[in-house]
Amino acid sequence: VDVAVVGAGRAGTALAVLLRRAGHAVVAVSGRGDTERRAQEFLPGVPVLGTPEAAAEADLVLLGVPDALIEPTADALAGGLREGAAVAHLSGANGLGPLRALEAAGTRILALHPLQTFPSVAAALERVPGSSIAVTARDEEGFALGERIAGDVGARPFRLADADRALYHAGGVLASNGAVALLALAEEVLSGAGVPDPLDRLLPLVRASVENAGESGPDEALTGPVVRGDAETVERNLRALSERAPSAVPVYVAVARAAADLAVRAGRLTEAGRDQIEAVLAAWG
Ligand SMILES: NC(=O)c1ccc[n+]([C@@H]2O[C@H](COP(=O)([O-])OP(=O)(O)OC[C@H]3O[C@@H](n4cnc5c(N)ncnc54)[C@H](OP(=O)(O)O)[C@@H]3O)[C@@H](O)[C@H]2O)c1
Repeated sequence: VDVAVVGAGRAGTALAVLLRRAGHAVVAVSGRGDTERRAQEFLPGVPVLGTPEAAAEADLVLLGVPDALIEPTADALAGGLREGAAVAHLSGANGLGPLRALEAAGTRILALHPLQTFPSVAAALERVPGSSIAVTARDEEGFALGERIAGDVGARPFRLADADRALYHAGGVLASNGAVALLALAEEVLSGAGVPDPLDRLLPLVRASVENAGESGPDEALTGPVVRGDAETVERNLRALSERAPSAVPVYVAVARAAADLAVRAGRLTEAGRDQIEAVLAAWG
């Protein structure tokens, strides 16, 4: 199909490149400042046009603008698209609501969210293939279109109800930001303990934990004092943190509670064991 990307940033540009490789025609992109340079580098020959002009030429318009601009952009495009055109935004937290003006004008609306993190176009080009894409649409035809597009970029599509998108996105944020924010905090804590190059030393541990969770499931992958029911070590950890890295205390407590719940569910910690851990945690937060 003829594809246009309105807001050809990191995500939009990468999807356009992958769709082009899959045999679709990328007819135009639009953006604000850096888009032009990005298009020259990754989409040579594709014209950079104004937003309405770019969208008017396409059967499928991908909205890659920042989340807050999806609705105003959709409002501005309503009524100006090809007959039978479809518009998809790429946001995970948003549902189809911000595209309602387009729908009212007879355009098919979709939401396609790659469950991935893209710090750059190059990273996105590498990571989209093999990643999941959440597809939300109004009807079977819309879902089928979204699944086809997701498949064409090498991703694994799955269907997501409009009402479930915010919850789904919260889970993605927990996994992605949680890992990064926890790693940064752990780095600070190790640094406080005088460990040189703490990030480099933590990474093999983090990678192994993630790999174990992927291979055998979180139930079996969990190690450490909580799953062992070792309340004394949890207390020793918390005492050290409160003296030397107090901002990490509430995070440690929250993570330990989540680990205790997981350990009980997995049948690896008894309720009595959890109570002992919880008695320590409750004293700190
Ligand atoms: N990056 C990720 O990890 C990721 C992952 C999954 C989904 N998404 C979703 O993908 C969408 C885009 O995210 P992104 O990270 O690709 O964003 P991005 O790299 O910041 O790109 C945003 C695009 O919108 C354009 N833009 C920004 N402000 C504009 C304005 N006022 N008027 C016109 N164009 C404007 C930018 O143009 P210039 O560059 O020319 O300024 C750029 O082309 C979002 O809905 C996001 O939730 C992102």
